[in-house]
Amino acid sequence: MRIADRVATLPPYVFATIEQRIAAARASGVDVISLGVGSPDLPPPPHIIDALCAAASRPDTHGYAGYFGTPALRGAIATYYARRFGVSLDPEREILPLLGSKEGLANMALAFVDPGDVVLAPDPGYPTYRMGAIMAGGAYHPLPLRAERGYLPVLDAVPGDVTKRATLLWLNYPNNPTGACASREFLAEAVAYCREHDIVLGYDNAYCDVTYEGYVAPSILEVPGASEVAVEFNSLSKTYNMAGWRVGMAVGNAQALRALATIKTNVDSGMFRAVQDAAATALLGDQDWLAERNRTYERRRDAVLEWLPAAGLAADKPLGGLYVWARTPAGVDAEAWAISALERTGVWLTPGTAFGPHGAGHLRISICVPEERLREAGKRLSAL
Ligand SMILES: Cc1ncc(COP(=O)(O)O)c(C=O)c1O
Repeated sequence: MRIADRVATLPPYVFATIEQRIAAARASGVDVISLGVGSPDLPPPPHIIDALCAAASRPDTHGYAGYFGTPALRGAIATYYARRFGVSLDPEREILPLLGSKEGLANMALAFVDPGDVVLAPDPGYPTYRMGAIMAGGAYHPLPLRAERGYLPVLDAVPGDVTKRATLLWLNYPNNPTGACASREFLAEAVAYCREHDIVLGYDNAYCDVTYEGYVAPSILEVPGASEVAVEFNSLSKTYNMAGWRVGMAVGNAQALRALATIKTNVDSGMFRAVQDAAATALLGDQDWLAERNRTYERRRDAVLEWLPAAGLAADKPLGGLYVWARTPAGVDAEAWAISALERTGVWLTPGTAFGPHGAGHLRISICVPEERLREAGKRLSAL
């Protein structure tokens, strides 16, 4: 058996490795509190689940459902974008449903990156941006996200020869892992940069509806001229507590979506029709429950912020996303800290380097666990 070189250059998916470590601790009897992954622990409301059950009970929903999503789902996405962002999308040309946004992020690289091309992606950042570049045989150029710049990359700092070879830029706000949000001015700057250098802008808006204290996250497509260069990736995973359902979408530049669809039609065969019907129900139905759900996350966020100092950690208050991005004391290695915390307290926090070298000195704390477990985690870590 000869395994392709690309497998050797691809590190194992970081959260898959972490899952194994946690499973081993649980198997040895430890009451592990994992504040690792950002998988919403609350269910979607009954009207969405009822729609799934009703559609799954019909005899005509079980065959291949087509490559481009049902007209009903594409229509629902268009309605959502119009209502939520004031962005008008053509459901035929400017919307492509995805099997969760992660596959879209990875397949985007296959559509836009040849050997020799460069992908610009945030560091720290969601690992799939850089792994997609590697899988496509391209290069990856990290864009450091620094606290003193509000975790916004300095696009003008990218060397000229790298910019020339760049075909794809990834941005993600509300940001995973830092929790930072981007100003509209920065988004306009990013669109201008991509237009000037003929780079596709992949904007990952997975956390746009998980926000706090009245903050409303924009779509990149609200920026005038964005649809010339941008594809926005969005997801029902975090917005509607539907991470396991695998429903996402790519919207925006029609030419880019055609290229992505060419890859996808050769890789997958579309989404279960019942899931598409229920996704349309989620997008079109009652949205009021999201505010209460976000208040639950906000209370959890505040519970973490409360105990961080006692655990020797510090963080800024995030206005979006499912994480607190905590700094370790100067000179303390975050990876060693996390492993020692797991061994001594059963609490797992993700070391920032899981998101790239610029995540050093940080730990990412997921708030996808009930408040009392978060407080229990704080108690254990404070006693360390
Ligand atoms: C920034 C970001 N983008 C994309 C995803 C993928 O979401 P999904 O594939 O469930 O739509 C995640 C999941 O954690 C994420 O954090």
